[in-house]
Parts: sequence; C-alpha cells; structure tokens
Amino acid sequence: MQKIHAAITAVGGYVPEYILTNAELETMMDTTDEWIQSRTGIKERRILKGEGKGSSDMAVMAVQNLLEKRGIDPKEIEMVICATTTPDMQFPATANVICDKAGMTNAWGYDVSAACSGFLFALTIGSQFIETGRHKKVIVIGVDKMSSIMNYEDRKTAIIFGDGAGCVLLEPNTDGYGLIDSVLRTDGSGRVFLHQKAGGSVKPATLETVMNKEHYVYQEGQAVFKFAVKNMADVAADIMARNNLTAETVDWLVPHQANKRIINATADRMNLPAEKVMVNIERFGNTTNGTLPLCLWEWESKLKKGDNLVLAAFGGGFTWGSTYIRWAY
Ligand code: UT7
Repeated sequence: MQKIHAAITAVGGYVPEYILTNAELETMMDTTDEWIQSRTGIKERRILKGEGKGSSDMAVMAVQNLLEKRGIDPKEIEMVICATTTPDMQFPATANVICDKAGMTNAWGYDVSAACSGFLFALTIGSQFIETGRHKKVIVIGVDKMSSIMNYEDRKTAIIFGDGAGCVLLEPNTDGYGLIDSVLRTDGSGRVFLHQKAGGSVKPATLETVMNKEHYVYQEGQAVFKFAVKNMADVAADIMARNNLTAETVDWLVPHQANKRIINATADRMNLPAEKVMVNIERFGNTTNGTLPLCLWEWESKLKKGDNLVLAAFGGGFTWGSTYIRWAY
C-alpha cells in the first residue's frame, strides 16, 4: 500500500488593518527608520486594535478565508492545532475558542507552544494524525498578537514584532505529495535569552510584576541572533542533505521572518538565489507563529504541484527546525 502523506491542500491568512510604520515607532521610542531597516529589513508591521480582540479573532479570519476558498463546511474539520505564544487566555486552549467561533463543532484540538518554531512543530504533529489514517481533515494554525506582550519602550525588541495569522489544511495524499520530512530541535538552556518573566506558575501576576513590566517579551537580541543564524541555517542544510535536495532541486525556502539578515544567512547556506526565498518581513515584521503560514498564503498562487519547499524556523525556547514539503497543488 502507498504511504499516506499529509498534504497541504489549502492555505488561509489574515493580517489586521492597522499599519505600525517605522515612522510611528520613531515617535514612540528612540529609534530611526534607517536603523530598523538596515538591522532587520522591516518597514512596517500590522497591529490588531480593538477592545477584547485576541489571537483567536485573527485565527478565525484566516480559517474562514481557507474554508471559503475551498468551499468546505466548518463541520467537516476533525482537528485543529493552534500554534501560539499569545493565547487568548492562559486556559482554555485558543484552539477551542477558534473552533467555537468558526463553527468547527466536530473538531477537537489543542494549542502548541514552541514560540517562533510553533507552526513547524504543529504541522509535524498534525501530519501524524493524517499519516496514521486517524483523521482526513486537520487544520494547523499559526497566530500571534505579539503587540499584547510588547513593551513599546524597549527599542531593541519592540521594533521587530507584529500581529497576524495563517493556517493550512492537511489532507491525506497517496501520490507522494505532502510533508516528507521534519527535523525539530529544542534546547531549554536557551530560555534565559528570550522569555516572558511573569504570568506563569513560577511567577504569577502581582501588582509588582506588572509595575516591573515583567509580562512583556524579554529578549537578549544579540545572543538570540547568534543562535538563530547558525541553527536555522544548519537545520535547513541538514534537511536538504537527508533528502538529497540541492540548490537546483529546492524551489522555495520558506523562512521564519525574524530578521532579514538571518533569512539571508540561511539562503546563502543553501546556495539559493533571492528569487527562491519567500520574504515579507518588510511588511509584516515578525509575527512569531504566523510567519510561515503567512508566507505560504502570500505565495500560494506562485506555487506549483511538485515544488520542493524547505520551511525553516528558530525561536524562543530555544526551538528550531526545518520541514521538507512536496507541494500538492
Ligand atoms: O523570532 C524569534 C527569535 N528572535 C530573533 O531571531 C531576533 C534575533 N535578534 C535580532 O534580530 C537582533 O539582535 C535585533 C534586531 C533584535 C537587534 O539588532 P542588533 O544588531 O543585534 O542590535 P544590538 O541589540 O546589538 O544593538 C546595537 C546597537 C546598540 O547601541 P550601542 O550599545 O552599540 O551604542 C543599541 O543600543 O544599536 C542600538 N539599538 C538601536 N538603535 C536604534 C538597539 N535597538 C535600536 C533601535 N534603534 N531600535
């Protein structure tokens, strides 16, 4: 019997309307458009505005976009995995909220927490349910409202992040298309360089933690940069070697969008020309779990059946990984 692969058969995306430009950031902190663009490649990012709006609201828009494109009834979806670092609430899982709001009443699911690598982790998990034959329709979401945990007085961190959501539908494929291989890694010792200090069980929220701004992202940018630049390139090279892929046979690099310099280093390591690399960091910044599916969403019309895609990410944790996909449509 032919092996069942989990193929991506539809893509959805959503970015909020509000555009936070570098020029506006200049009015909020001591920075310049020139510094931000030259050090990160970012010109603007999207911000979700509105009282009571959270990650689930963006995810629902992305899911509806996907379902409408394919004409699928939300009740057909059997499972939803939501990768996010900014869940609506500590509990219940944002996946539950999304299922409720989008009418996916026959689905079960949960959240995956792996920071910027979360979408790759969730994609690999979701594919297992397809490969084993357990489910026929699984939605994997990457979403973050990074603005909800951003200290806009911290110029070293706040400039790179934005809000957004993307999602994919996984379905079984027996013709050799879909998710072929994944290399996923974690190194918990890296947690000191990138984390949120308070609000968890170690340091629950108090007046003091709020006053000390400990509910925002804490990042030692340079240290993270060094690990990211090496590990994202290493793991992308690793997945190429494991699957006998070359610069000629890889059609697309789909990289996490944290910093244009990290993207360039990964592409250089793979010997890929710029036209094979998906880059939208200049418009969306770093949407954490949203970056990879948002790239697929934007490039969907350019992708061809049989294209070889290498996805690669690095993020807090540390977490990192790479996935090889043979595009199915
Ligand atoms: O996606 C999850 C994983 N995260 C990442 O992959 C992020 C990795 N890190 C980075 O992308 C970069 O480290 C940042 C973009 C966050 C920072 O860039 P950097 O080139 O590493 O800057 P730096 O923190 O080393 O700072 C260099 C200089 C410093 O000035 P001095 O001490 O040399 O005088 C900073 O104070 O640039 C200064 N600086 C700024 N100046 C203007 C830092 N941030 C800013 C700013 N505007 N926004």
